[in-house]
Order: sequence, then structure tokens, then C-alpha cells
Amino acid sequence: MHPIPFLDLAAQQRRIAPALRARLDAVLAHCQFVLGPEVGELEQRLAAYAGAAHCVTVSSGTDALQIAMMAEEIGRGHAVFLPGFTYTATAEVPLVLGATPVFVDIDPHTFQIDPADLERRIATILALGQLKPRAIIGVDLFGQPAPWPALRDIAARHGLFLLDDCAQSFGASLHGRKLGQEAEATAVSFFPSKPLGAYGDGGALLTESAERAALYRSLRTHGEGATRYEVLRTGMNGRLDTLQAAILLAKLDVFDSELAHRAAIAARYDAKLTGLVEIPARVPDSRSAWAIYAVLLPEGTDRDAVQAAMRADGVPTAIYYPKPLHAQPAYRASHTGNPLPVAEAVSQRILALPIHPDLPLEAADRVTDALRHALASQGTRAAAAG
Ligand SMILES: Cc1ncc(COP(=O)(O)O)c(C=O)c1O
Repeated sequence: MHPIPFLDLAAQQRRIAPALRARLDAVLAHCQFVLGPEVGELEQRLAAYAGAAHCVTVSSGTDALQIAMMAEEIGRGHAVFLPGFTYTATAEVPLVLGATPVFVDIDPHTFQIDPADLERRIATILALGQLKPRAIIGVDLFGQPAPWPALRDIAARHGLFLLDDCAQSFGASLHGRKLGQEAEATAVSFFPSKPLGAYGDGGALLTESAERAALYRSLRTHGEGATRYEVLRTGMNGRLDTLQAAILLAKLDVFDSELAHRAAIAARYDAKLTGLVEIPARVPDSRSAWAIYAVLLPEGTDRDAVQAAMRADGVPTAIYYPKPLHAQPAYRASHTGNPLPVAEAVSQRILALPIHPDLPLEAADRVTDALRHALASQGTRAAAAG
């Protein structure tokens, strides 16, 4: 049996080839490869899609986070609170800017940042008195929204800047509203594997503030002022290529139908896997973008053996994330030393299954069958009951 692709960008490309080709040909004809008209068009479309007042596209999700934090002058002596269970970029940016990332534990079922633990970590930093609490980065992990009402409340009480790392979750919604307005700024990634992915690196910042949007535009072009050779501040070369904007415009036309297919796959997985493994808990009153569908294997399962057995059945899997960030060599030195027991336990049991808009429902059934067989061959009680 041929293997199921974990992600199938070639199938997506075949499905939208004429629209992609037309968009790319237009750029090749006008040759404005940097800040060409497609960039502005995309910014308008993305802002309208997310219901945000302003959108500034940038060169990656990482640069979106960095520009947002540079605009607030976050740096040395500042504590930036963020979940310990996320991609490295969330923690890397504060550290690159001289600030200290403070890792917060997660909810064991949704995998999102735990507001109660956030309160505790802020109290610890205040008690230690060495760092000034300055910002919270909420991460919308795996396609689902972070607990935004609680994060907003905590940020307001402590006077902290609130940044949404929405790299994985553009297109998701909370309380009937698309992500993009939950925090003071929202960073999006268009890395090729993201639900809305370019053919290279790309990102965007969404904000309600005209002042912030103007700062982001300046920072993404070397801190320029009203004219090209007026340099107002230290910035970076952080623009989105016109070709990437053209690709994203073609993909945006089919984005909602792709999100609907991802949701159908997730519902199929839920139905087939309930009782066998812990299926991902939904954040109440939200819609996920289903960037990642990750289950928790029964405690004590040999995860390597499960992955190997599924691979033998032609089903690839992935582990996001095998280690929480506080346990990574790059961050150990800056970590306050407090453990993150939930993130540590989740990282031992988590397993991501293929989910993408070109995965047929029958292929999803092959995935769940392979997981059931793999667990049965380990003789777990859950598999026997299923
Ligand atoms: C949670 C999170 N934040 C930030 C990033 C960085 O985005 P990019 O790869 O576009 O720089 C990613 C990308 O994988 C991510 O998953």
C-alpha cells in the first residue's frame, strides 16, 4: 500500500494550478518583486478576512514576533511570559532582543497556556525582583485559540503588552470572531506547512492600532521614515516577497473550503479514536484551523514502537513537541528552574496524525486503523476495549 503523505503540497498545487499560474505570471510581467501591488492587495484581504483594522506583511512568523516586540522596545531586564510547550521561535525572539522568556505550564487537555500557572509565574518574577514583567505571548497552539479572555484580564491587571502568536492558527475563531483581534498585535506565519502556507517563508502582523501598524512598516524596512533614505530607528529587512504574496492570494480563495475539509478530518478522527486514545479537547465556543491533530497515547505506551508500526502500514506521524522549551539546551540557562509538570508529561505521550485539505476521508480511516493496530500489538487495555 502506498504511504499517506503527512502533508500534500503537490496535490494542493495541482488543484489550484491555473489560479497560481495566473498570479505568478502577473508578477513576472510587472517585475516589482519587492513590495509589488500583490503585497498591498494581500494585506487588505488578510485584514478583511480576520476583521482586523491593519495588516502588515513580513518575511516570516518569527520576524512578525520580533517586529512586534521591537516596536514595544522590549529588551534587557524584561520578563516575557509564554507557554513552555510551543515552537522555539516564540521563546527565541525575546531572548534575541535581550529579554528573558519565562515559561508557563499548559492545560493537559487543550495544550494551551494555563492562566492559573501564568499568574503564579508573574508572582514569582515580581517576588524575585530582578526582572520587570513586560509582556505575555499567548500562542494559539495547533490551530486552536489560546484562552484569550483570561490572558487579557491578566495582562490588563499587570500592565503587560499582550501579543498573539497565531503562527499556527490563522483562520481559527473564538466566540464567533476570527483570530486577529484578541491581543494588541497578532503574528501570523505563512511557512509552507501552515494552514495558509506560502512557497517559502512569510508572515504578517495584524493590529487595531494605526500607530503600531506604521511602526511595523518602518521596522520591516530598516526603520525608514517618510522617505527611503531617512532612517528613524534600528529595523530589519523583514518584507514579504511579492511572489509569496501572489501565491497566498491564490490560496486565500480556497482557504475556507480547505479549513472545512480539515475540520471534517478532525471529526472523523474523533469518532474513530474516542476511547482508544485521548482526543484533542476543544477550546469552548471556538473553531480550530486544525493545523495539527494531536492525540495523547495511553500512559506507558511505547511511542517509538507505535510510530514504527504505523510507518510500516504507510502512515507517517510526528511529535510536536518531544521536549518542552525549558528543557532545551538553548533555554536552560535563562529558565527560573521551576518545573512544568504538565508540559513534560504531555511531551512524552503526544502524537500528531496527518491532517491536510487533500487527505481523503478514506485515508483518514487508514490512519485510525493503523493506530488501532499499533496499540493492539502493544496489548494496551484501551485497544482491547476498542
Ligand atoms: C507557534 C509558532 N510560532 C512562531 C513560528 C515561526 O514562524 P516562521 O516559521 O514563519 O518564522 C512558528 C512556525 O513554525 C510556530 O509554530
